Amino acid sequence: MSGTGFRSEVGVRHPLSEARCAKGGRTNIERLAPLVNDIHVVVLAAGKGTRMKSQLPKVLHQIGGLPLIEYVLRTAAALMPASVTMVVGHGADDVQAALAKRTHLQFVTQEQQLGTGHALLQARPVLSGRSGTVILLSGDVPLLSVDSLKALIATHAEAEAAATVITANVARPFGYGRIVRSNGRISKIVEERDASPTQRAINEINSGIYAFDLEPLFPALDSIGTANKQGEYYLPDLIAIYRKQKRTVTTWTVGRPDEIRGINSRTELAEVTTMVRQQKNEELMAAGVTLIDPATTYVDADVVVGPDTVIYPCVFLEGSTKIGAACEIHSGARIVNSTIGDRVCVRNHTVVTDSTIESGVFVGPFAHLRPGSQVGEDAHIGNFVELKKTTMGKGAKANHLAYLGDATIGAKSNVGAGTITCNYDGEKKHRTVIGKDVFVGSNSTLVAPVTLADGSYIAAGSAVTADVPEGALAIGRARQENKDGWVARRREAKAKN
Ligand code: UD1
Ligand code: CA
Repeated sequence: MSGTGFRSEVGVRHPLSEARCAKGGRTNIERLAPLVNDIHVVVLAAGKGTRMKSQLPKVLHQIGGLPLIEYVLRTAAALMPASVTMVVGHGADDVQAALAKRTHLQFVTQEQQLGTGHALLQARPVLSGRSGTVILLSGDVPLLSVDSLKALIATHAEAEAAATVITANVARPFGYGRIVRSNGRISKIVEERDASPTQRAINEINSGIYAFDLEPLFPALDSIGTANKQGEYYLPDLIAIYRKQKRTVTTWTVGRPDEIRGINSRTELAEVTTMVRQQKNEELMAAGVTLIDPATTYVDADVVVGPDTVIYPCVFLEGSTKIGAACEIHSGARIVNSTIGDRVCVRNHTVVTDSTIESGVFVGPFAHLRPGSQVGEDAHIGNFVELKKTTMGKGAKANHLAYLGDATIGAKSNVGAGTITCNYDGEKKHRTVIGKDVFVGSNSTLVAPVTLADGSYIAAGSAVTADVPEGALAIGRARQENKDGWVARRREAKAKN
């Protein structure tokens, strides 16, 4: 665990505990429950993300197998908001396409990225005529917790504020807007570039996350100017504007500054990725999973692993993968979007993608299960075996060196070493159907489409081009001929010459 305290404080300190009020022993949140209907979330995600140096819009860069924006939208959804609006601009088409499934999400476009204040203004058409509280989130701040947002809302409502800013006290404030206070109260926010040396020494930073009362918001945004080093419309300037208008502005300070870390560069992406990974690994261990070396265990955010499963170093579990209980996943394995049953042993350097493995199976080492493979209970897939769109029945075995593509293999059938399904004729793919209790001798080539009926036998080294009936033996190779005395005759002939 790094010294960030990102995980170590989880569960120790609940931000909402600060928001507890005396009235009837109910928390602010409970008391403010009706207000929750009036929450409008706006997510800023139009920026170019210049410092990422990427073709991909910043919010689509991934952490733990999910795009950054997915973390922000999940947190927003937990507030049960009346609306969620996303301001898109740079790479808008890609961002909208990536989020097409989120039907409740509204998009507004910021054609030119003129600053965060200008970005929020784009939400005006969606929010005009509505009332309530705007929660402004940044698409590049993925770790903010729901509890912190609830505390923000509680503080904002309690103070009846026009604006409430989430701040954090950090050792290294470089790059962030600084919170300038007078007589203890926030008076303005100054960006790094525009800050005086004294202001740069301030350790309290702007998270870029705010609650705003909707009513005065858009008229005030109109009055933000561009008199700063970047010539941009800075949303944080709203604070000074409100103070001049004698409106209430307040702050809520997050206990764990790592929650509000913004991602602006690949280095920050990697740092936050490490935090998310450590948190995931600790959750797995707390749920009864053994990680031999958490530092080299790479499990995506949505992966599920059952208790008593042992994960060896350098294992990658990705996407929507689900692993059952009491499995062994050995080093070098990479399992992507796949479902694995209980007591499965995945041996070293096995790759499984978009496939299903039922309970009690042994796979690998060096096996490759390509998309659409289904391995039945207690089946064995050995070294250098490749499956593609292939179903192996219960207890079926392919223990060594085989390519089984577009095949159905029945229960308890045994596929010998070197067997190949010739599934491709240069134009189309064809299926191989192998019944149950079939014995396929080593080095057989099964030329699809072909069916080997239940209980049939294939002699080793056969090229099988025709269907094999139930219980039959197929021999598809030249008959062996032994020439008696041939070696001696050859030797004599050589000696004469
Ligand atoms: C911003 C804040 C800074 C704060 C920091 C916290 C401003 C001017 N500064 O700085 O005080 O400490 O966040 O992380 O707000 N965006 C748009 N349109 C634009 C510009 C930005 O949608 O025209 C979006 C970006 O995509 C991003 C968010 O707004 O999601 C923040 O923008 P970014 O440029 O990263 O601001 P910072 O420099 O980090
Ligand atoms: Ca940022």
